[in-house]
Amino acid sequence: MSSSLILAPSILSANFSCLGEQIEALEQAGADWIHVDVMDGHFVPNLSFGPFILPVIKKHTRLPVDVHLMVSNPDALIPAFLAGGAEQITIHVETCLHLYRTLQSIRAGGCKAGAALNPATPVESLQEVVHLLDLVLVLGNNPGFSGQRWLPEMAGKINRMAQFLERAGSSAIIQVDGGITAETLNDAWLAGARAFVSGSAIFGDPGGIANGIQSLRKQIVF
Ligand code: DX5
Ligand code: ZN
Repeated sequence: MSSSLILAPSILSANFSCLGEQIEALEQAGADWIHVDVMDGHFVPNLSFGPFILPVIKKHTRLPVDVHLMVSNPDALIPAFLAGGAEQITIHVETCLHLYRTLQSIRAGGCKAGAALNPATPVESLQEVVHLLDLVLVLGNNPGFSGQRWLPEMAGKINRMAQFLERAGSSAIIQVDGGITAETLNDAWLAGARAFVSGSAIFGDPGGIANGIQSLRKQIVF
């Protein structure tokens, strides 16, 4: 298991009137990835943005773009996100009729592949595809909105995921998304998460983006 902490701010919580500046501020403040929440108003009761957002982001940063597809038909959208230059694409296990093929298609497009699990979806649902995964995303709460409370029982699920990956001999990174703040990050880290998505805690920090990122980073004493 890696010992470094990866921070992936979610731009869903950004101020869209100055998105470019906000993205540049994330890179300057030491973010590692840019997390992009794609919602179709069907798999989740919210709408966000499509592949057009990638060139907008890439004009302002060279950080890897981490795409989180919360859509009912990911196969229809994956080609456009691959063409847009996403470095990583994560699909929800609950949306894939052919999970094996969908993960293969992401890797065949030269991109890292991730699988996301809603709070109710068991770790074992990845049993037959673990060798196709670069990343597993454990939702910290129900997907679809930023600013929701962390579900404390997800720390136990992250720990089960860490054991599951270890038994499978997998080096996939465990990412946690939803409710990550300075108060909740350490529990997820101790459970085995190494990549942390955070939206409202970073963009909503009264001290600004850099302060939001530092407040999260300093939760882990190496
Ligand atoms: C919604 C998204 C999350 C969300 C995180 O489910 O997948 O990435 O934007 O926002 P916070 O950190 O505010 O919970
Ligand atoms: Zn997300």
